[in-house]
Amino acid sequence: MRERSDALLFFGITGDLAYKKIFPALHAMAKRGMLDLPVVGVATKPLTHDDLVARAHASITEYGGGVDETAFAKLASSLRYVQGNYRDMSTFTALREAVGGAVHPLHYLAIPPSLFATVVEGLAASGLTQRARVVLEKPFGRDLESARALNATLHQRFDESSIFRIDHYLGKEAVQNILYFRFANAFLEPIWNRQYIEHVQITMAEQFGVAGRGKFYEETGAIRDVIQNHLLQVIGFLAMEPPSGNYAEAIRDEQAKVLRSIVPIEPYKLVAGQFDGYRAEEGVARDSRVPTYAALELRIDSWRWAGVPFFVRTGKSLARTATEVRVKFKAPPQVVFQDALPAMGNHLRFRLGPEVAIALGASAKRPGDGMVGVASELVLARMKSADEMDAYERLLGDAMDGDATLFARQDAVEAAWGIVDPIIKLDREPSLYTAGTWGPREADELTRSRGGWADPA
Ligand code: BG6
Repeated sequence: MRERSDALLFFGITGDLAYKKIFPALHAMAKRGMLDLPVVGVATKPLTHDDLVARAHASITEYGGGVDETAFAKLASSLRYVQGNYRDMSTFTALREAVGGAVHPLHYLAIPPSLFATVVEGLAASGLTQRARVVLEKPFGRDLESARALNATLHQRFDESSIFRIDHYLGKEAVQNILYFRFANAFLEPIWNRQYIEHVQITMAEQFGVAGRGKFYEETGAIRDVIQNHLLQVIGFLAMEPPSGNYAEAIRDEQAKVLRSIVPIEPYKLVAGQFDGYRAEEGVARDSRVPTYAALELRIDSWRWAGVPFFVRTGKSLARTATEVRVKFKAPPQVVFQDALPAMGNHLRFRLGPEVAIALGASAKRPGDGMVGVASELVLARMKSADEMDAYERLLGDAMDGDATLFARQDAVEAAWGIVDPIIKLDREPSLYTAGTWGPREADELTRSRGGWADPA
């Protein structure tokens, strides 16, 4: 039986992630009566307990949809703070004391990857890695080689079943619904393959720019930031074979199999772009070639998907914020109605954010004379707000319970790096695009012969 973690040690508690996601998630857990362990925040800044509580309060007010006094009191009484340098053994001695009698701590490393080894060794030296779990934030490395090195460091002290690599997309209600919808409905299976599907498009568009994260983004760029992880995980759910059960490894095995069958991306199948104005952002080099936009074509080398292109695009400062998957079915084999809209075919649309919906697109006859078609959509499911339960609340709870189903496994992470490795190191001048548009025109070429990109409405 899996034991529930009995203390949460959060490294980097004064950072952005804690402020935007973790305090609200802990507060939501307290609201559901699920916060039953001490939360020890660790960081290098001098802070009193009251300062930390005030920070949590501000965070929940701003990002957690308002403070519930009872839940907040529970959270505040669970919080402890340890200030210290990660290179200093006394920090870990203080941590050992702060967790009291906890024997299954969960360590959350929201710190730069360059510090992982130091922290893991400090924890090990103070006996805090035994029967412990560790949660890591992406990026898990910068390329295949560094991801392998990072995994080797972690595996010196933790076995794979105790390592939880967070990809918050896997915790999203809408992304889980892809999996549910595919395998809870039998009608889909006969058509979910190369015989009926013409191509698949995934658009993750963001209207905002790099929002003060210029320095981070210079190190990352669009491909490392969201394609190597979030969007490849989404493709994994769309393309996987039926898992042989719903236990963690059954799903993760299928996910990894898809990623292993994706052919490494050819440089000529990539269009990289940069919005005008990016180079003027704080922390960005004046001659930066970092792409803030990427569009590409992927192929899955498998029986089910041979010959079906998967088009992926993402960008900052685009026309709107929307993430959407569109599975385009083949057109009818013959044109029966001359007046019908040309080769419309059908599609299945998964809206993943900010709204959530699943819709089936089809042509119907327009009322009146003539056999003229009109594009219609049957909305099968719609949710107003993106997530009932925030992805971080769900994933944090799962990690505390030791349930790894929605976390990225080492082999999947390494396979994902293998896919993007040939394109992340290209030092090409990106195509410029005007902020507020759908990105560089060059990207249109990728999908032109397949009917073009469908911009999310
Ligand atoms: C993060 C990226 O992982 O995901 C950000 O670093 C991106 O650049 C964010 O904006 C998008 O997440 P969501 O949940 O808002 O779609």
